[in-house]
Amino acid sequence: MKALVYQGPGNKEWAEKPMPEIEKPTDVIVKITKTTICGTDLHILKGDVPEVTSGRILGHEGVGIVEEVGAAVRNYRKGDRVLISCITSCGSCANCKRQLYSHCEDGGWILGHLIDGTQAEYVRIPHGDNSLYPIPEDADEEALVMLSDILPTGFEIGVLAGAVKPGDAIAIVGAGPIGIAALLTAQFYSPGRIIMVDMDENRLGVSRQFGATDTIRVGEEDAVAKIREMTGGVGVDVAIEAVGVPATFDVCQQVVAAGGHVANVGVHGAPVELHLENLWIQNINISMGLVNTNTTPMLMKTVQSGKIDPSKLITHRFELNDILSAYEVFGNAAREKALKVIISA
Ligand SMILES: NC(=O)c1ccc[n+]([C@@H]2O[C@H](COP(=O)([O-])OP(=O)(O)OC[C@H]3O[C@@H](n4cnc5c(N)ncnc54)[C@H](O)[C@@H]3O)[C@@H](O)[C@H]2O)c1
Ligand SMILES: [Zn+2]
Ligand SMILES: [Zn+2]
Repeated sequence: MKALVYQGPGNKEWAEKPMPEIEKPTDVIVKITKTTICGTDLHILKGDVPEVTSGRILGHEGVGIVEEVGAAVRNYRKGDRVLISCITSCGSCANCKRQLYSHCEDGGWILGHLIDGTQAEYVRIPHGDNSLYPIPEDADEEALVMLSDILPTGFEIGVLAGAVKPGDAIAIVGAGPIGIAALLTAQFYSPGRIIMVDMDENRLGVSRQFGATDTIRVGEEDAVAKIREMTGGVGVDVAIEAVGVPATFDVCQQVVAAGGHVANVGVHGAPVELHLENLWIQNINISMGLVNTNTTPMLMKTVQSGKIDPSKLITHRFELNDILSAYEVFGNAAREKALKVIISA
């Protein structure tokens, strides 16, 4: 079969690889119908995730059709349409039992990381019964690809961890796919004001279409001063960090109101300066984490009912055998006005 293979920092190829095989009775082999590229794949390609070794097939998002099931798989049969979660989970270890799937003792984020991933014609999914979700008959498959990673991430690590409430003023720093996923799912709770912060005017425009009440363009405006001004000097109830650099974490800790939450979603590669000397007296909660995808079934219902439409995030479409072009576009997202690309087999 053909697959997108990581060949060390800066190198990738669309190469011939052996078909995955059932290795454990709980495995499911899925034929990929649609996949996408995540910002994390770009981090891997830069060499920022050294656990990923040469020869690894990338990708941790996608939907497909069950090709083969191991002897112990009970929930799926050949021909079933499935959504692949970016988090693999056994469903029975101590962490899985408290829905902390990202810390499954035999799983977590392993796809396209420690085992071969979804940017291929076929993929092996360990613990298929718990790591896959059935796709409803009439579902929009492209929209569901957004449920593998970005929607649960923005929702669980941004909105739920930040405890967004009706009427809240919230700021989301970073209007990439994750920031926009937080923007879409924050609206379940009817916040009064949603301020999006980015330097990319195109993404800020998209944010306004998706429900942002205010946008701030970094580089032209001082985000901290502007948010203070917009909130009458009080600050925001929830500040969601969706970039992963010290400067954006710093904006969040400067604009959070007393009693508020800083929900860090971004993956940081360098330490940040935490101003406990200012924050302690303000009763601030700070949260962070890796997505668990325990909200996937709930999010799937909101997509099915039309409450949210994550297909709005899709800006480009490619064929699987043209995935190198998809990387070219996604890797130059600002120039190409790209948010999420769909790659179809
Ligand atoms: N916690 C988790 O489980 C989890 C899961 C997936 C992704 N992530 C992380 O979430 C973050 C966002 O992911 P994404 O795919 O949306 O990334 P992205 O790179 O597409 O988007 C980041 C956005 O931040 C903007 N930005 C950069 N510097 C900025 C600044 N100084 N001020 C304001 N905006 C700035 C960029 O213009 C861009 O629009 C990444 O760090 C990613 O690794 C976390
Ligand atoms: Zn991802
Ligand atoms: Zn487990």
